[in-house]
Amino acid sequence: MDIKNALWLSPMEGVSDLGFRSLCVKRGADLTFTEMIRADALVRNNKATIELIDTYLKEVPTGLQLLASKPATLEKVLKMISKKREEGDPLYLNISCIDLNFGCPSKDVITKGAGPALLKRDQRMRDLLTTLKKESPVPCGIKMRLGLGVGDKRNKVYLRVIELANELELDWVTVHSKTADQKSFDPIDLDPLREILAISKVPIIGNGFVTDGKSAKHFFDMGCAGVMIARGAIINPWVFEEIKEYLKTGKVSRRDKDYAAALAEYEYIAIQYNAKDKFLTYHRKTFLDHIKGNFGYHAPTKNKEWV
Ligand SMILES: Cc1cc2nc3c(=O)[nH]c(=O)nc-3n(C[C@H](O)[C@H](O)[C@H](O)COP(=O)(O)O)c2cc1C
Repeated sequence: MDIKNALWLSPMEGVSDLGFRSLCVKRGADLTFTEMIRADALVRNNKATIELIDTYLKEVPTGLQLLASKPATLEKVLKMISKKREEGDPLYLNISCIDLNFGCPSKDVITKGAGPALLKRDQRMRDLLTTLKKESPVPCGIKMRLGLGVGDKRNKVYLRVIELANELELDWVTVHSKTADQKSFDPIDLDPLREILAISKVPIIGNGFVTDGKSAKHFFDMGCAGVMIARGAIINPWVFEEIKEYLKTGKVSRRDKDYAAALAEYEYIAIQYNAKDKFLTYHRKTFLDHIKGNFGYHAPTKNKEWV
């Protein structure tokens, strides 16, 4: 996988449906991700979960983001994906890559010992990532925070994960450089990211507060191979092409942003491909706010972690 100056749209629960991903790809995103999909539920053939694999359009490069804490469950899901691809199922053929989530700060996830709670468990991480690498039919990587809290950070569990990623030759590691107990508007800590970049042999994708060319360039100048953008793309889906222009010319571009047309473009795809109500409701509200000139960020769910 060639990752250089890459601009990726983050996996976002309640946001990253096909319509929104398409909108971002048309505005310069190189790769997008589904929202976090629970491997347990896929194994149980949960219909609502399977519907989150909305990779209907090949021209919208999409990675599947999975949440898995048990290697056996992950193995089952990856084998199922491989089988569907062998059978020629277009939804599964369109999956560009697979990402494992070790960053979700939700209490629900952490109390079950999943997501960032796994980062310090060396053997479990080894088993999960070995399974990922062995069974994934497409390129694969992970998205991580620095650990659960100050203890993990002090113990530098994140460096042990990077050593493992080096050994297993993962295709990327996305780093949201803060701990899981930090709030979404707490600043990221760039020192651990520097330590990570110093030892990593795999491409590192920087994540956190990228909203324009300057904030993206900061990550690239540090040595990141790509950046991943979440809230910046909700507020401004044109952010990807603006960053590309800035990286090319060094100039901040000013463009007319037709949010009404963007909403129509979103709805065209979302309705055609039966987007879940949660996505339609969120994007309609957000775009209507933008049309009225209100660019504040609103979380899509009652999940406090994304506020
Ligand atoms: C509404 C929302 C939903 C999110 N859902 C996910 C998710 O499903 N999986 C994930 O790894 N991160 C998720 N995140 C975290 C983002 O991917 C990203 O790491 C975080 O917002 C920091 O990036 P930003 O500063 O560009 O927003 C979510 C963030 C937001 C705002």
